[in-house]
Amino acid sequence: MTWRIELVGTRQPSVIVGGEGALALLAERAAMVREAGLRTFVVTDENVKAAWGGSMAPLISGSSGVEGLRVLSPGEAGKSAASAAICWDWLSKAGARRDDIVVAFGGGMVGDLAGFVAATYLRGVRLWQVPTTLLSQVDSSVGGKVAVNLPNGKNLVGAFHQPELVVIYPGFLSTLSASEYSSGLGEVVKYALLSDGRLLDVLETKTAAILARDPATLSSIVEQCVAFKAAVVEEDETDRGRRAILNLGHTFGHALESTLGYHVLPHGAAVSLGLLAALAVSEVVVGLPTDTRARVVRLLANLGLPTRMPGLTFEPILEAMGRDKKATAAGIGFVCLDSIGAPRWGVRVDDETLRRGLKAITP
Ligand code: GLY
Repeated sequence: MTWRIELVGTRQPSVIVGGEGALALLAERAAMVREAGLRTFVVTDENVKAAWGGSMAPLISGSSGVEGLRVLSPGEAGKSAASAAICWDWLSKAGARRDDIVVAFGGGMVGDLAGFVAATYLRGVRLWQVPTTLLSQVDSSVGGKVAVNLPNGKNLVGAFHQPELVVIYPGFLSTLSASEYSSGLGEVVKYALLSDGRLLDVLETKTAAILARDPATLSSIVEQCVAFKAAVVEEDETDRGRRAILNLGHTFGHALESTLGYHVLPHGAAVSLGLLAALAVSEVVVGLPTDTRARVVRLLANLGLPTRMPGLTFEPILEAMGRDKKATAAGIGFVCLDSIGAPRWGVRVDDETLRRGLKAITP
């Protein structure tokens, strides 16, 4: 089954299609634009090319098959201004024009970097996203946030540039490592807490199918996450208000990742712990009933995500939270949950309460 969600009301509309038929649709679209005399420039990484090079082939323009493809080294280190400059150079040497299309074929790193290149080359060319990880399928490929890292922090230079097409094929998830897969599950639980409760029920009742990576189950879960995110982005494309709710758990999560080291704590683990700390803060600040956190602990554990982190030193984590790029002169605008499906953003939280959040995830 194939599903389709349209993001309208944004500066550039975005069509998101998903399901088993998504790859066939992508190949069809590529053939259509090629017939119209346009070219597609595919950015990917070595791992994705090794696993899914065959699915990429119909997208690659150029007689030799080389000029339309840029293969990056995998990993967050490649999401740099230097990599963007290499891609700008590649596009300009190939004579890419405004109506040609950059195709980001890979996970969050590829999507953010290729998206940033598309947003900036010739002040903006067309972008298609083909996300291959669970994290990029439920979150980063949708909504137009694109960026590169600086030595001083992640995503410090970026833009809003909506992909005109996002193609989400559940089969890609079968080749992810366990750690990459759990990174996405952390985000899925975030969406379940933000949305109306039905997704949380699905995650609780279909845990076995989720862990077995059943394509039909995952396709429906991804669709629900994307539908929720699309509605939030339509309301607040440039992240001035409500879009902040998508950071639930991430203020703690990012601080844990940067303090402990990105290799020590995978993103999914950081989001899992961050969500629990944010729920503990919500109990204090907005009166979230305590049984919600107990329920989420059970779910995260069943999904194989951590719910405790021994040996945390609180002060460096609090400092990192203060340095978060979302912090303003007025302090950290924290995202709390009044109840499942009722998030609140911009909440001022003092350090003592943040410590209580950290205590909740420390054995
Ligand atoms: N990943 C959060 C957002 O797109 O706003």
